Amino acid sequence: MKKVGFIGWRGMVGSVLLERMRAEGDFAGIESVFFTTSQAGQPGPDVGAGSAPLQDATDVEALAGMDIVVTCQGGDYTREVHPKLRAHGWNGSWVDAASALRMEEDSIIVLDPVNRTLIDRALESGVKDFIGGNCTVSLMLMGLQGLFDQGWVEWMTAMTYQSASGAGARNMKELVSQMAALGEIGAGLAADPSSAVLELDRKIGDALLSAEFPTEQFGAPLAANLIPWIDKGMADGRTKEEWKGAAETNKVLGLEASPIPVDGQCVRVGAMRCHSQALTLKLKQDIPLADIESAITEANDWSRLVPNEEEVTLRTLTPAAVNGTLDIPVGRLRKMVLGPDFVTCFTVGDQLLWGAAEPVRRMLAILLGRL
Ligand code: HSE
Repeated sequence: MKKVGFIGWRGMVGSVLLERMRAEGDFAGIESVFFTTSQAGQPGPDVGAGSAPLQDATDVEALAGMDIVVTCQGGDYTREVHPKLRAHGWNGSWVDAASALRMEEDSIIVLDPVNRTLIDRALESGVKDFIGGNCTVSLMLMGLQGLFDQGWVEWMTAMTYQSASGAGARNMKELVSQMAALGEIGAGLAADPSSAVLELDRKIGDALLSAEFPTEQFGAPLAANLIPWIDKGMADGRTKEEWKGAAETNKVLGLEASPIPVDGQCVRVGAMRCHSQALTLKLKQDIPLADIESAITEANDWSRLVPNEEEVTLRTLTPAAVNGTLDIPVGRLRKMVLGPDFVTCFTVGDQLLWGAAEPVRRMLAILLGRL
């Protein structure tokens, strides 16, 4: 029975991972060992075989006893522990949700519905580090896999509308606190049909900019606002999130030698846990819309075409509609007035599922020979 060590299982991505693994019965037939960075010795979770004391996540000897390590602990942990564990001679498989090792030459970014061939080749050639991709990239590729598989894409821009969850659990809470503060300030005026809307707007506007408004996590109001900046700035004017869009898309697709240009602007919006993206694609030729539609729907079991109509768009192509599901709806699909080889579409996906936990869960299943 394979020994699988879990680190960072209590955090947001880790909790979603455990939830999914429980739902899929993934804990059966493996020996699960739970590690902790702060509470060694305390009882671990019961995933079917009773609870055992938590192990120390920095104990290289204990980690080296695992066949597979799955971590959602974050990049700092990976940077600290992974090199020590490898230096110790450990040759097990490391499956990681954090970005720290993503662009390493001897790692692979895993998104098996899209790059299973690359994953299998990597396994054959002895690759041992399997890293989940950036959430926007994974969600975009799950939606548009068909177009990339066909080799139709000459270049693409991704304008993103990223949820609070991408910034972390505390940020999700801060977003709701911001909404609550605004609700309190505006409630009376909003409910009164005869109140002056400009008065309501002024109160909300003043509150958003007041020193008391809770912005510790985001550094700016997100409720009734947006933040056109995600992650660190880079020398060329992109943010790191925008850089990842290009670098990781091409790494997932195995196109680093002749990359497809990808660029855009990444924006944080007040959605809870679903990222949305408005995509513009320059195709290599004029492909009929019907062929594009079938390529999108046939590429994998999760991408789903939403007809470009108002009612169904409002009902199914929003962060609220997709929240907590593995669906990747793609809608607002049409040729652009820019020319017949320009296509635009809009896609939504759950940042914690296909954007984080699900590719990691499935990579573990692949390593266990179950997928
Ligand atoms: N960087 C993403 C975000 C998180 O800030 O939304 C997941 O890759």
